[in-house]
Amino acid sequence: MLNPRLETEIARPPACIPVSPAKVVPDIIDDAREGLLFPPRSLPPKYFYDEKGSQLFTKICETDEYYPTRTEDGLLARNAGNIIAISRPAQIIELGSGNSGKTRRLFNACEQIDHTCSYAPFDVCAPMLEDTAGQLQTEYEWLKVTPLLGDYHAGLDHLPGFNERRLFVFLGSTIGNFKPAEARAFIREITDAMAPGDYLLLGIDRVKDVQVLNDAYNDSGGMTAAFNLNLLNVLNRELDADFDLSHFNHHASYQSRHSRVEMKLVCDTLHEIQLKKIDEVIELYPGDEILTELSHKFTYGQAEELLSDCGLDIVSHYEPENRYFSVILARF
Ligand code: SAH
Ligand code: TRP
Repeated sequence: MLNPRLETEIARPPACIPVSPAKVVPDIIDDAREGLLFPPRSLPPKYFYDEKGSQLFTKICETDEYYPTRTEDGLLARNAGNIIAISRPAQIIELGSGNSGKTRRLFNACEQIDHTCSYAPFDVCAPMLEDTAGQLQTEYEWLKVTPLLGDYHAGLDHLPGFNERRLFVFLGSTIGNFKPAEARAFIREITDAMAPGDYLLLGIDRVKDVQVLNDAYNDSGGMTAAFNLNLLNVLNRELDADFDLSHFNHHASYQSRHSRVEMKLVCDTLHEIQLKKIDEVIELYPGDEILTELSHKFTYGQAEELLSDCGLDIVSHYEPENRYFSVILARF
């Protein structure tokens, strides 16, 4: 008979392992002082992902307009067998793993060929990470899940080491949320953490019809707007501030000059905001904006260049018939 104590221990989700920062990164107080007090105002996107933000992001991914998730998932569904057969990872380590929804395609492919490996999801959102790790542990008994909690902008040097073959995974076109120079610097940080023979699987969104792009970031159900506005809830909580959400509108539009969608919160009235925690007051006028996210889109060639410039060899480049999205497997 199973020892009941043991049973609850088995059911307990794996505990998140904090990854200590390898370099000093600004906190929300530094970022608010730097980005909010004077125009042009902007904030880094990592503050979107509190518990509610992560739930809203999952909802964005389910909207009809937001094609990236289902397109990337389709590519993974069709090619996961190939990806696993080529890379044969002893560990899959995923950056910005979120709900690990699409990564399940890789685990299913492992099951198909009786290949076992461990999984290390790395994310800044503790509740999402913990929930996901618990669910995966139940869904895939054979999979050892080690959730890593941290900020990937603080460097990857302190990721737990591993001396067998690893597959690094970075999906959702999150790389597009970095500025071009930062994207290259980040891929370089990933390669610094890689050993020769390790693989990187990267999901990148492509340049396409402007209407399709604009619709993807302006879904009719308002999920993207709610996600964008939730950033102000985070600021209100963390900075003891009093942003009035009803005075802000979500704006997202593709700027072809920079091949990117720019996400903003635009104030529609004269609004004075107290930021008590940092002892500051800001005054916004109608039309004043806060830049909250950039989402760069790549051509087929630019996507490959990003990886090859960083010393990676392209092994496979998967794209759907409509060429909406790229999933690239590269070897270090
Ligand atoms: N890979 C998932 C989620 C993409 S959303 C998908 O494709 O659907 C981006 C994810 O990265 C979120 O889960 C968010 O919590 C995480 N994230 C954002 N900034 C981060 C940071 N600085 N460090 C670690 N994770 C971060
Ligand atoms: N990586 C996603 C993307 O660029 C993130 C994202 C999707 C996002 N929708 C958003 C970020 C809306 C801010 C607001 O597509």
